[in-house]
Amino acid sequence: MSEKISKILFPRLVVLITTCGMDGKANVSTFSFIMPISFQPKYVAFAVVPTRYTFKNLKEVPEFVINIPNEKMLKEVWVCGTRSGRDTDKFKLAELKTEASVKVKPLRIEKCPIQLECKVEFMREFGDHYLIVGKVLEEHVKEKEFKPILHYSGNEFYVVGEKVSYGG
Ligand SMILES: Cc1cc2nc3c(=O)[nH]c(=O)nc-3n(C[C@H](O)[C@H](O)[C@H](O)COP(=O)(O)O)c2cc1C
Repeated sequence: MSEKISKILFPRLVVLITTCGMDGKANVSTFSFIMPISFQPKYVAFAVVPTRYTFKNLKEVPEFVINIPNEKMLKEVWVCGTRSGRDTDKFKLAELKTEASVKVKPLRIEKCPIQLECKVEFMREFGDHYLIVGKVLEEHVKEKEFKPILHYSGNEFYVVGEKVSYGG
């Protein structure tokens, strides 16, 4: 029996990634194929289907911001993950206010408790996605104690409850 990879490797952190095109037009999309890859310096990776408007933007302006939403932002996550910036202003549709970044061109999403400004250092096709590796140039941690949204597959999510530790 074969099962979708998203139903095997779960739950995964849900993030809103902001990008912009050469013309400066901003976009925001939802991603859950994302992982940290280095502590120092900080590097993160995510995977994007090449038909996404986000991918077109990354090829034009190789910078992005990882905005981490809290559990109250499920609607925004769904809107940004089901519409394309090609024909929709998702900031308007999802009522997302933005603020300027410090080191990169793409904007930050104001109400996201964590925002990581990144520069693309590597991009390569793997199967039906492209792996994007970014170096974190600036981090904004506005709040640490929030509940992130986690993804299963499609429109099914988890919200983290308790923080637990092992031993000690
Ligand atoms: C919860 C969730 C997670 C998603 N994760 C990814 C992902 O990791 N990679 C990807 O390419 N698309 C992912 N998508 C789909 C894109 O967000 C969706 O196709 C979006 O419309 C792309 O917008 P764009 O064309 O403006 O970039 C996800 C969608 C949802 C709802």
